[in-house]
Amino acid sequence: MSESKKLWGGRFRGETDPAFARYNRSFGFDRRLFEADVRGSLAHCESLRAAGVLGDDEAARIRQGLNTLLSQAAERDESFFDDEAAEDVHSFVEARLVELAGDAGRKLHTGRSRNDQVATALRLWLRDEIDRTASAARGAQVALLDLAESHADAVLPGYTHLQRAQPVLFAHWCLAYFEMLARDRERLGEVRRRVNVLPLGSAALAGTSYPVDREGVARALGFERVARNSLDAVSDRDFCVEFASAASLVMAHLSRLAEDLIIYATTEFGFVELSDAISTGSSLMPQKKNPDALELVRGKSARVFGHVLALLTLIKGLPLTYNKDMQEDKEAVFDVADTVRDSLEVTATVLRNVRVREARARDAASLGYMNATEMADYLVRRGLPFREAHEAVGRMVLYGLEKGLELHELELEELRGFSTLISEDVYEALSLEQTLASKSQTGGTSPARVREALAAARASLDAPES
Ligand code: ARG
Repeated sequence: MSESKKLWGGRFRGETDPAFARYNRSFGFDRRLFEADVRGSLAHCESLRAAGVLGDDEAARIRQGLNTLLSQAAERDESFFDDEAAEDVHSFVEARLVELAGDAGRKLHTGRSRNDQVATALRLWLRDEIDRTASAARGAQVALLDLAESHADAVLPGYTHLQRAQPVLFAHWCLAYFEMLARDRERLGEVRRRVNVLPLGSAALAGTSYPVDREGVARALGFERVARNSLDAVSDRDFCVEFASAASLVMAHLSRLAEDLIIYATTEFGFVELSDAISTGSSLMPQKKNPDALELVRGKSARVFGHVLALLTLIKGLPLTYNKDMQEDKEAVFDVADTVRDSLEVTATVLRNVRVREARARDAASLGYMNATEMADYLVRRGLPFREAHEAVGRMVLYGLEKGLELHELELEELRGFSTLISEDVYEALSLEQTLASKSQTGGTSPARVREALAAARASLDAPES
């Protein structure tokens, strides 16, 4: 085990209080930035060499040392990171580098501060993480489409106010969640653009006095542009808030999906069955099969939302520029990234373990006056103003409720008692098939439109990311 020396010891005579040292330490969590920090350091080394600050030999020794660290970290277990004294990932990398590259390693921090360094490492790390999140979101979209296509004819009661409203195709329901995730991926792409800006070269706060080529560093690290203002560059954490917000909407969508499925899996609804792979039992009640996977997705949305507020509160009222408060951004951002990706993956797994109980769902979609709007539309087609049709059908529903019969179960003569515009063809108009088929404008649930929407959704998955 090697030990790291303080990066700022010179000005100090006294020892750091041990409890404060522990409190101050971020290495326990920011070690996750190790690889990003080394990548940033490699680019900084090259820029110092090109600026003539480092000789070719020195730069080569640093480069070799940093690359050795990368392979050591990849090859060795967690013990590589055993370092009680390392204050943070930056001190750790520098200490290990000096062990390997000697004096050359001591020159790497020229023209750089941990302030632009940490902002750079966090942005590099988050950029990869956003890509992984977007691809997990795509995975959930694929699972939704697969499920929709394997139950192409399934019908479900659609709800408003959780009261039966109108029948919809099950695939239409799947595509609603597909749309939410499509927006999420788009949003993550927009956040990525603002993450993808290079702070390095801003140094502590005022900018660097060495003639470095910041554009070159940006290109080397794959950043789209360099940060325009050094004060802003070292203190900007908007991108953390943005990422957590975009992730929160993902979680809100997954949570709604979870809630729908939890309800549909109850004995009372019984539209879907969840396989054993994603359910758990009760320690007391032998008959129970609980939708824990979905409940956890719903529950974990809470912590992601919480991180948005934590991050906003963290930056509110901070004077320019860097303040140590900002070290608190890491755990929030790490947890958001882990939680949202795990939740997307678990949701995709759940969707591959859902069976639709088509007969039961279809029965439910045919009962409860779900064709009352069809009846009103039928009367409108025969010339009755919609408001009058609505009123007449409302009275038919009351009559049906009293007799315990659905609208299509009433005799023609009974129906004609409410409007003489009604004739024999009304039964055809009230059928489930006709009810669905009539919703044939763009965005509607008619089988033809839904088939097109499924094909378009498939094709959109193959389109390059925006
Ligand atoms: N561990 C610190 C953080 O995460 C790194 C930057 C420290 N900079 C400083 N001047 N103390 O924010």
